Amino acid sequence: MKVIEDMQHWRDVRRKIGGDVGFVPTMGALHKGHASLLHCSVENNDVSVMSIYVNPTQFNDPADLQNYPSTMKQDLQLAESIGVDYVILPSDHDIYPDGFRYQVIENEFSRQLCGVNRAGHFTGVLTVVMKLLNMVKPRRAYFGKKDYQQYVLIKDMCAAFCMDVEIVGCETVRERDGLAMSSRNKLLSEPARAVAHKFKQALSCAPAKISADQTLADQKMADQLVADRLAAYGFQVDYVETRKHRRFGAIVVEGRNGQVRLIDNVELESKVIGGDQ
Ligand code: PAJ
Repeated sequence: MKVIEDMQHWRDVRRKIGGDVGFVPTMGALHKGHASLLHCSVENNDVSVMSIYVNPTQFNDPADLQNYPSTMKQDLQLAESIGVDYVILPSDHDIYPDGFRYQVIENEFSRQLCGVNRAGHFTGVLTVVMKLLNMVKPRRAYFGKKDYQQYVLIKDMCAAFCMDVEIVGCETVRERDGLAMSSRNKLLSEPARAVAHKFKQALSCAPAKISADQTLADQKMADQLVADRLAAYGFQVDYVETRKHRRFGAIVVEGRNGQVRLIDNVELESKVIGGDQ
């Protein structure tokens, strides 16, 4: 596995790579969720590239950026053990030679769900992903459904800009107790970690019938019940919303070093599902 920090050198290397290139962009602090994307890329492409870049423009809270965990040595070991061929480590200057003057802006879906309380977050994500895709020129790029809104926005951006890349969505990888794996889980306080699995549990309990004849009012009522349940567990609820048979949620919990925001989403069955799962 080659680790490349000099993006000019990477461009020379990229020109000589033949066959299908699979790409997994990350911000490091890798866990089994990232690993599943890497496995998928290695299995389905001739050459696999991973990037590690903690993108400042997608953090709207400076403390969140500052606290973002970094485990570079272990990340490189994990990538190598899975069979990744190249890891690129671009610098801020490589990514933002323009000082973020040019931006990719989406005007609808990016303003909903996570976009409501994180102004500019998805502009940062879409802009960096566009740049990384231009640098790597993959045949396929892999994203986790844990960040489902991000995955949909990236897929739609690539279609909107006629980009020749297949955006592949990979299922959410969870801890044994159901908590979605996330680099931010490392930041949770012990008591917060002990109850964090209830987030997924509450999201997957659908007290209302999800069917073709379900009204928006039914859906909102079900979401509200889930939000109430989360609040009863002591979580600060950012939102709970159902879209197209998928329920999305974001909560804020106590961390070891300030508050931590967790997001998750679950697919709802189109028949009656009740109680905790
Ligand atoms: P990061 O949070 O490092 O995640 C990198 C990729 O791993 C994303 O596609 C994310 O959805 C996926 N992922 C994270 N946790 C997962 C889990 N539990 N199961 C499955 N996949 C999971 O997402 C980002 O970085 C950034 O926004 C990025 C796309 C790199 C742009 O900066």
